[in-house]
Amino acid sequence: MKHLLRLGDLSTEEIFGILNLADQLKYERKNGVSHHHLEGKKLGMIFQKSSTRTRVSFEVGMYELGGYALFLSDRDLQIGRGEPIRDTVRVLSRYLDGIMIRTFKQSDVEDLAKYGSIPVINGLTDYCHPCQVLADLMTIREYKGSLKGLKLCFVGDGNNMANSLIVGGIKTGMEVAIACPDGYKPDAEICAWAEKDGKLTVTADLTAAAAGADVIYTDVWASMGQESERAEREKVFRGYCVDGALMKTAKPDAMVLHCLPAHRGEEIADEVFEAHANEIFDEAENRLHAQKAVLVKLLK
Ligand code: CP
Ligand code: NVA
Repeated sequence: MKHLLRLGDLSTEEIFGILNLADQLKYERKNGVSHHHLEGKKLGMIFQKSSTRTRVSFEVGMYELGGYALFLSDRDLQIGRGEPIRDTVRVLSRYLDGIMIRTFKQSDVEDLAKYGSIPVINGLTDYCHPCQVLADLMTIREYKGSLKGLKLCFVGDGNNMANSLIVGGIKTGMEVAIACPDGYKPDAEICAWAEKDGKLTVTADLTAAAAGADVIYTDVWASMGQESERAEREKVFRGYCVDGALMKTAKPDAMVLHCLPAHRGEEIADEVFEAHANEIFDEAENRLHAQKAVLVKLLK
């Protein structure tokens, strides 16, 4: 594993390798054991979109591993003034040991890996969010004991989260059901890949998707970069909400996850969010542990 550009590049063994190391790092941290696996290593973090969790968990993660993280906003970098990403990365490769990037186009992340000479980590694109899903898989395994055979239902836009959940879910042996309106389906190539094994359902019917689910997952109706579509999306997605009625169709012990930030009253009802807050905030915490595992695997 040279980079983390998308989960599709990772084998099932590599995914479980990250999850196992993440569990170990979490356990050690809780018991006051710190390991400076990345002493002296430097991670550049390029942000072309906002972030709370990704930014703070990567920065804290590098610090805890004995390394250093630089926050690089496109408001300050010359990228924001048009310097090509392929030039930027050839310069940054001379200073840094790794780059994390949050941006719009997946091709920009791939270009960083192609033109740079250091590991690249995708911290979210319009196409996927692999770091989030590694934390999600870690959280589901913590609560359910194992992943194989579980049913994961995602309610909402067939966006970056849906794409990565399909890949991560299928690769770890889960059944995945996506409930989304027509015209807002996940990436067609990812769906074709997942449907080969018959473990993916994409439907506009929320109740069918949630039936017997072990995990219900949702995300915002309008992602970063889609602000101008917000009014239209509010109409299209009305009803695509994880509420008490939908939870009744899932398994009685179903967990609820959300990558955050959440819009209560839109994709999730406040009472469902609060009833599952422990799971949701464990999930957010696990970003730290899962990403530390990724950093160790790539930068050590
Ligand atoms: N879930 C997630 O990636 O959160 P941030 O946008 O705050 O980084
Ligand atoms: N789909 C959301 C995820 C945020 C973590 C977005 O891209 O804005």
